[in-house]
Amino acid sequence: AAGDIEALKAAIEAFEGCPLRFEGAAHQAVFYRGDPAAPLMIVGEGPGAEEDARGQPFVGRAGQLLDRMLAAAGLADRVFITNTVFWRPPGNRAPTPAEQAVCAPFVERAIELVNPKMLLVLGASSAKAVLKKDEGILSLRGRWHEWRSHSGNLELPVMPTLHPAFLLRQPVAKKKVWSDLLTVTERLDRPDRP
Ligand code: URA
Repeated sequence: AAGDIEALKAAIEAFEGCPLRFEGAAHQAVFYRGDPAAPLMIVGEGPGAEEDARGQPFVGRAGQLLDRMLAAAGLADRVFITNTVFWRPPGNRAPTPAEQAVCAPFVERAIELVNPKMLLVLGASSAKAVLKKDEGILSLRGRWHEWRSHSGNLELPVMPTLHPAFLLRQPVAKKKVWSDLLTVTERLDRPDRP
């Protein structure tokens, strides 16, 4: 029911239904950074230690790489960044489908409130949660998919791509993500047809 992003942030901070809050998080809920009116919404997996400490998504090493790539693609000031879960999973494991399902109504409300033109999802577990498809990220990435809200009122194009933490381990895969970012920029900059 949250009427704006700050109300949604307060609702997330008060929410006790996600077990990660009591298992992995040492400090706080991590909801978003960026522009609440951005044309591009980025959905990562879940906060890590740095994010848990600072209360913002993607502020650790993976986030710094993400920021450099977004800047190079001309997307730096055009994003709202969040995750599929809002509390750090213990030991930085991937969030489970059950943990993601508990947080999903908040993610969906964030999408409705930000009302972006498209979504960029980072990593295998985010792509699975957002697209509800059981394919691997390497086959999903680089192509447009469709996301639809529960109410059916909102449909958005979704680009899945590789997670920046994976790129830190496999720098040779950066060219795939670069290509996906350029595909996103091209679509964002395309004039809306009447
Ligand atoms: N990895 C993620 O998926 N999200 C973050 O916020 C940080 C690292």
